[in-house]
Order: sequence, then C-alpha cells, then structure tokens
Amino acid sequence: ASTLGAQAAQSGRYFGTAVAAGKLGDGAYAPILDREFNAITPENEMKWDTTEPSRGSFNFGPADQIVGHAAAHGQRMRGHTLVWHSQLPGWVSSIGDANTLRNVMRNHITTEMNHFKGKIYAWDVVNEAFADGGSGQHRSSVFQNLLGDGFIEDAFRTARSADPAAKLCYNDYNIENWSDAKTQGVYRMVRDFKARGVPIDCVGFQSHFGTGGPPASFQTTLSNFAALGVDVQITELDIAQAPSTAYANTVRACLNVSRCTGITTWGIRDSDSWRSGDNPLLFDRNGNKKPAYQAVLSAL
Ligand code: XIL
Repeated sequence: ASTLGAQAAQSGRYFGTAVAAGKLGDGAYAPILDREFNAITPENEMKWDTTEPSRGSFNFGPADQIVGHAAAHGQRMRGHTLVWHSQLPGWVSSIGDANTLRNVMRNHITTEMNHFKGKIYAWDVVNEAFADGGSGQHRSSVFQNLLGDGFIEDAFRTARSADPAAKLCYNDYNIENWSDAKTQGVYRMVRDFKARGVPIDCVGFQSHFGTGGPPASFQTTLSNFAALGVDVQITELDIAQAPSTAYANTVRACLNVSRCTGITTWGIRDSDSWRSGDNPLLFDRNGNKKPAYQAVLSAL
C-alpha cells in the first residue's frame, strides 16, 4: 500500500497521529491527515483542563470537532486522557480531602466517557502515574497523595462501568527499556491487575525517543507486557532528528509482536510537534515526506 494507514491495515493495525482541533481547517495539514492516518489522538482536547475547567462544567466542543472529523474519515479514535497529574485544573489539584477527590475523579471519568461512548477505540484511563528514576513506585500527585496507590485501580473500575466496550489503557513514557525500574513498576501493576481481575486491556508506550531511537530491549518489553494478556500500542512516537533507522526499528518492534495493535506519531509535520526544535516527525514543515517516512512505510 502507498500510505501509512493502509499499509498498517494490511496486518490489522492502525497508524495514527496526534491532532490539534485548531489545525483541522489548515489546507496543508488536513489532506496529509486524511491521506496517511487511520487513527487519531487529540493532542490536548480531551485533557481535564479543557474538558472540565471548573467543577461539574464540561466542555467537549474542541474534542467533538476531532471526533467528528475522525468519524467522517473512517479514522479510529484514542481517548487521551482521563486521569493525569498534568494539564489538570487548579480546582482539582487544590482539593484537600479524599472523599471529594474520589467523587470528582469518578464523575470526570464517567461523564467524559459517556459523552464519547461508542466513538472511542481505546482510552488512556490513567497517564504517567509512575515516577522516573529507580523507585518503581507511583509519582506524587493529588490523586496519589489523597487516594493512595488504589487510585489507579479505582479509575479503571470506574472506566469499565462507564463504557464496557472501550479498551482501557495505562499510558506512560520511559517504560520502553525492559530493565528500567519504571518499566518494572508498571509491569508489576499490570500483572497484579490481571491476577486480581482489575479491568485493563492495553498499555501505551509513549515512545518519545532521542536520536538513538528505541532501546535494544523495546521488542522484549512489548512482548513481555503482551504476555500478561494486554494489547500494547506505541502511542506518542517522535524521535529527535527522525533518523530512518531509529524509526524503522521502532516499527519492527511493534510488527514483531502480534498484540502490538497500532502506532501513533505525536503530530504530523515537524512544525506541529511539541518538540519542534528536534524535528522528530515524518513530515517536514512544508508537509513533505522525510526519509524516515519511507523507512516507516517499508518497515510496516
Ligand atoms: C503535550 C502536547 O503535545 C502539548 O501541546 C502540550 O502543551 C503538553 O502536552 N505526554 C503526554 C501528552 O501524554 O499528552 C503530552 O502532550 C506529551 C507528553
């Protein structure tokens, strides 16, 4: 096939990108989106600071634009993200008691998932809950600090009740290298969830890489998680300077794992990237395919 999405579909996978609602009307951006990509993750529009800027007051307008675009163009949607310490409005971070926060968290998950019910393939229910470095433990956040370790399980159980048809993912960065303490911490959590019947269907590996690309163990990491009985996905791929080999290695790691169901790059053109100084994407500022594009297409 001659596009990323069509080529990925030949093995039953998707190839997606992060999308900003404000760019859907951009005459250089939208044609690439609809030609190349068959899955979309809203870059910011489903985050808490946008969707519930004050308590009980929900704003789904920007995300609805993206979901509408995806429906019109046959693209799958990943929902990103329900519970995250970042891009969290001040009214949530300043909640002081556990019962209030638990109710607020459950209501946020339920209301947002209900709104998009039937339109989301997979939700990043909890994003980036583990600490960097050697602890292998959860990071500090208002959720962790008031609700304790159980907040992740609570979020997943709430999500399953809200939309039983959506796949429920845990998503994080720096969990691609198998031997890292952070990877091991997330692995133990998923193993424990599966053992106890806590609903979890997938793990997202953000995959924000430096010029070297993925660690040598990346495929091992993906297959070890998959062996726990979850799908795995590459959810926010970008690689500094976009070396062709690094991109091809990333794609191969996924293709070699049957439960790796899709790859998403975190933007289309380098100018769309949150790390645009690194030129980490598959299309240049003019929307032209970079060498890494050909490498990805060939590896798919
Ligand atoms: C980034 C967006 O790309 C930026 O536009 C925004 O300013 C900050 O967030 N991990 C995630 C993504 O899960 O939501 C982040 O997206 C990048 C890191």
